[in-house]
Amino acid sequence: MNLKGRDFLKLLDFTADEIGYLIDLSAELKDKKKKGIPHKLCEGKNIALIFEKTSTRTRCSFEVAAYDLGMNATFLDPSASQIGKKESIADTARVLSSIYDGIEYRGYGQEIVEELAEYSKVPVWNGLTNEFHPTQIIADLLTIKEKFGHLKGINFVYMGDARYNMGNSLMVGCAKMGLNFTACCPEKYFPDKALIAECQKIAAESGSVLRFETDTAKAVQGADVIYTDVWVSMGEPEQVWQERIEELSPYQVNSRLMESTGKDTTIFMHCLPAFHDLKTTVGREMGEKFGRADMEVTDEVFESGASVVFDEAENRMHAIKAIIAATLG
Ligand code: CP
Ligand code: NVA
Repeated sequence: MNLKGRDFLKLLDFTADEIGYLIDLSAELKDKKKKGIPHKLCEGKNIALIFEKTSTRTRCSFEVAAYDLGMNATFLDPSASQIGKKESIADTARVLSSIYDGIEYRGYGQEIVEELAEYSKVPVWNGLTNEFHPTQIIADLLTIKEKFGHLKGINFVYMGDARYNMGNSLMVGCAKMGLNFTACCPEKYFPDKALIAECQKIAAESGSVLRFETDTAKAVQGADVIYTDVWVSMGEPEQVWQERIEELSPYQVNSRLMESTGKDTTIFMHCLPAFHDLKTTVGREMGEKFGRADMEVTDEVFESGASVVFDEAENRMHAIKAIIAATLG
């Protein structure tokens, strides 16, 4: 498998074999890290990390992965650089790719990271856009494989806003890798029709079944994985909270929902950060305003034995390391 020189912008650009290779390489590098076996596969290289939105997991994962691979990383905060304000994405790409061996970008529209890649001479990795979050999906698939031993035929249910980065990318990842994918939410939160059509074609080849459900009981029957994400994503206006709470509350992941899968092996997943209590500034502010103690998931489920959210978070680093090592070499 040779992915050297490839950008990592969205999973649609990769075959099932290539995605499978990245998942396996993540597991191999995780094992090496646990055993203390050095793996400085990119010694002497340098990478730039551009974050136009905030991050804990993705930034730390890119930085630690870079150091473990023998590289240096520069964090660029757009508020303290020329990006966007005084220098276009195309010019930034040409400047950074003459200095660095790879560039990570987290920001708004997918077209921005695509433009960055078009003008960059070195690999560009998507660290989250409004539309896609592909490094998260490699970590999520690794986590599912660790828990169940396989991916094909796993019943995966996504609850909540399925038309944003997580719903979109998980649908693509499941379709590619043969997991059955169900989006469960009001119809207006279903993924984009064109993306669904593209995924249906991919699913026909992989054997995956894609379903779009408004009824929670029907959706979760037989689920192996129940996944959710925040109801309001980074960059969205505060005014949408009320509507989201009203429309997505019936799709909250709570114990009743987890118990109605008919399986006692169902796991709970979330890309994090999550609003499961009032211990954050936004969680407390919105919780008090709307009289709630939690949002997309209850604290009970989040803290339960079924929850694998911290395994997922750890796997972000191993997955990102694999993506960097595979594309930089
Ligand atoms: N899941 C995820 O991307 O987390 P961060 O926003 O903290 O990077
Ligand atoms: N949908 C979330 C994902 C965070 C990892 C957001 O974009 O804020």
